[in-house]
Amino acid sequence: MSTGSALRDDAVAGHVAAYGVEPAGVGFAPGRVNLIGEHIDYNGGLVLPVALPLGTTCSVSPRDDGALHVSSASVDGPPVVVPLDDLESGARQGWSSYVLGAFAHSRSRHSFEGGASLRVDGDVPLGAGLSSSASLECAVLVALDAATGLVHDPLTLALSAQAAEHEYAGVPCGIMDQAASMLGRADHALLLDSATLHHEHVPLHLQEQEVVLLVVNTRAHHELTDGGYAERRAACERAAAVLGVEYLVDAEPAAVEALPEPERRRARHVVSEQTRVRAAVRAFGLGDLASVGELFAASHASLRDDFEVSCPELDVAVAAAYDAGALASRMTGGGFGGSTVALVRVDDVVVVTAGVEAAFRSAGFRSPEVLVVAPADGARTLY
Ligand code: GLA
Repeated sequence: MSTGSALRDDAVAGHVAAYGVEPAGVGFAPGRVNLIGEHIDYNGGLVLPVALPLGTTCSVSPRDDGALHVSSASVDGPPVVVPLDDLESGARQGWSSYVLGAFAHSRSRHSFEGGASLRVDGDVPLGAGLSSSASLECAVLVALDAATGLVHDPLTLALSAQAAEHEYAGVPCGIMDQAASMLGRADHALLLDSATLHHEHVPLHLQEQEVVLLVVNTRAHHELTDGGYAERRAACERAAAVLGVEYLVDAEPAAVEALPEPERRRARHVVSEQTRVRAAVRAFGLGDLASVGELFAASHASLRDDFEVSCPELDVAVAAAYDAGALASRMTGGGFGGSTVALVRVDDVVVVTAGVEAAFRSAGFRSPEVLVVAPADGARTLY
């Protein structure tokens, strides 16, 4: 959570150390935590993420050897080197696939015919459901714009980042993470309609109420590329096809109940989650955090029982947070591990953190990582 100037200075110094030249541009893009609206961004739904104060910086300089050189502050060894001619689409392995994909998807907009050197650095916990990959993709795209003096619409960059993730990382994700990373705003959540990409910034009024966001990284395995995510998405697409709706969020609840399993429960989650997002936006607007708490609890139960993307660590983290006095808590992100998000009164942070840690100890889980975060600004040029 460094300041912009510290991030910029570190990125410039790191780039010079890695490649012997100053970068032509440096971009920053944050991770995100989703407040509510889970697994509905590929079903035409409304989602309510916030950008985190954690993120990725990317620095870039031009080359003349016709190759892309990619290095990371947290990975030892020489840069990954890929000739530009080999940048064709196709899923690859590892962290560099996100960088290569983002570069490939912006090639038509930029002129790096001679190649480029890129270096990334970041503090979004990996595999924690906090969108380290979207932050990486978006940081690359912002850095490329910065280096070439171009300014693209944030949604254009978000869509490029999503396409990179589909084609290079092999994850058929929705648009929520990349949009949150590009468009987040301090003290606000992003209300994004994934069908139209219409979006607005919703003030959360957390500071006035002396409430913070508490993110619990369970450190349980979270790997969207394992197939569970694609399987859920495919079930939703089958359900929408049977019901004859373009977007599953628009299905009639009664028609959903007539579907076979597992489509019935998957669709029930999607339709009910959309209703909860609308109610949560109203409740945040009224400062009615008691209602937000009920909606978060219902969202978690629906993800656990109907969508089946929770896991014991997430369930324990959510229950322990409520038991210790959290106002609201639920799993966040794709699931199968990863993180929970809670709303906690400032005065209760210590006791809620201790409650979750104690519950993890008695369940025999690894100690969780607990982060207190405030909604932050989205991607930006640092240099
Ligand atoms: C992942 C995906 C998002 C979204 C969430 C679940 O984070 O990248 O597009 O589908 O899971 O809400």
